[in-house]
Order: sequence, then structure tokens, then C-alpha cells
Amino acid sequence: MKHTIYMTPMPVRIWHWLNAFGIVTLTVTGLQIRFPEYVNIFGTYKAAIRLHNTAGTVVSISYALWFIYYLFVAGTLSKLYLPTAEDITHGIFRQAFFYFYNYFLGRPNPHHSTPDSKFNPLQKVAYLMIIIILLPLVIVSGFSLMYVAPMRELILLIGGIKTLVSSHFLIACCFTAFLFVHIYLATLGHTPLAHFKPMWSGWEEEDDEGEQSPGNNPAKQH
Ligand code: HEM
Repeated sequence: MKHTIYMTPMPVRIWHWLNAFGIVTLTVTGLQIRFPEYVNIFGTYKAAIRLHNTAGTVVSISYALWFIYYLFVAGTLSKLYLPTAEDITHGIFRQAFFYFYNYFLGRPNPHHSTPDSKFNPLQKVAYLMIIIILLPLVIVSGFSLMYVAPMRELILLIGGIKTLVSSHFLIACCFTAFLFVHIYLATLGHTPLAHFKPMWSGWEEEDDEGEQSPGNNPAKQH
């Protein structure tokens, strides 16, 4: 039997899609800014920079709202995102083994999501790295590139403008790699869209036995 649970509150959904749209825009405009001789999607170089800066500002503001919401309104930041000692020593390996091997045999997902424990150990580690480390770093490095004169001291401290540009680019590459893996893993629910729907409507549909029963896993059906 199927039932639904309210998994993702509206502020998180608004943040997520604003952020996703912003990051994709930053990636595409960034590609033109970095490789203008090969990529010309937005007409002029100036137009790409203007759009890049606007998307960066939107991502920064939405990040601040996400942080305030999770920390002060919902108060669930550490509960949902911080991996436990068990997650680090066993959970991430169990989950990786599921994604690389057990999933293809139609075996059940070792993690069962609930509103209080939404993320499996691998998601916790990946999301924590991305959201608590990489996103703030890309925001600070981006603003330093936008406002070089006022940020002069910080830029000199980290080794100059070249180091700053390279770091910003390297972090952006990590984001792009994350995005491909993130979207692929998000399709591994009991149906390919099972994890996308709650990110849109808030409600997740699941079986009584848990979401990934072998009977409804596409890998088991042929
Ligand atoms: C086109 C781009 C994207 C798509 C289609 C997408 C899709 C999804 C889906 C389906 C989920 C729910 C399933 C899950 O938790 O894994 C999700 C959650 C999440 N995504 Fe994305 N995503 C995108 C971009 C991003 C980006 C750029 C970031 C971070 C920089 C990100 C960070 C997250 C986080 C932190 C969650 C968990 C949110 C929560 O429930 O608190 N996503 N995403």
C-alpha cells in the first residue's frame, strides 16, 4: 500500500530551485567567460559577465535565506545534515555499496527517509561539503572578483588575483561534477521521478515496506 509524507517544506523547495537555476546559469555563463574563444551563448562577453554576476547575487541571497531558515526557523540543520560517527565509519560504505552494486540486483535501499532523517550518510557528507564549504567559498571568491578593490587585502592574503581566479574556477568544476552525480542519484528512487516530486510538491510517496522494495525496482523487473 502507498502512503504520502510531507518531506520538504516550501522554503527549502523555493531555495532549491532558485539555487539550481542560479548554479546552472552560473555554469553556462562561466563557461563563456572562461573560454570566450570557444563559447558564445549570450552574445557579448559583457552580457555573459552581467548575467553571471546577477545569478551569483541570486544564489548568494537564496543561500543566506536557506541558512537562516534551517538554523533559526526549522532548527534542523545539524540533525539533518551532520553525519554521525556510525555514518562515517559504516554508513557511507553501506550506501556506496548499494548504489554501485545492490541497486542493480534490486536489493532494498539501506536508508529509509523520514522528515527527521531525510538523507542517507552519503547525501549528508556530500550536501555538507557542498553547502557548508563549497557554496560559501564560491560566493566569497565570486564577490572578491566582482569587487576587487575593496577585497584587495583578502586577495593578497590568499596569493593574488590569479590564485583567486583559479580557485573560483576549480570550485565551479566541483559544482559541475556534483550536479551530474546529484541528478543521477536523484533518479534512483522507486520510480525515476520519486525524488523529484517531493522537491516540487513537498510530498513523498512511499510503500509501507520502505521506498526501494525489490518488487518495484526497475532493475528487478526484467
Ligand atoms: C538542475 C539541477 C538540480 C536538480 C535537477 C536537482 C534535483 C534534486 C532532487 C530531486 C532532490 C531531492 C532528492 C535528494 O535529496 O537527493 C534534491 C535535493 C537537494 N539538492 Fe538538488 N538538484 C539540482 C541542483 C542542486 C544544486 C546546484 C545544489 C547545491 C549547490 C543542490 C543541492 C541539494 C540539496 C542540499 C538537497 C536536499 C535539500 C533538502 O531537502 O534539504 N541541488 N535535488
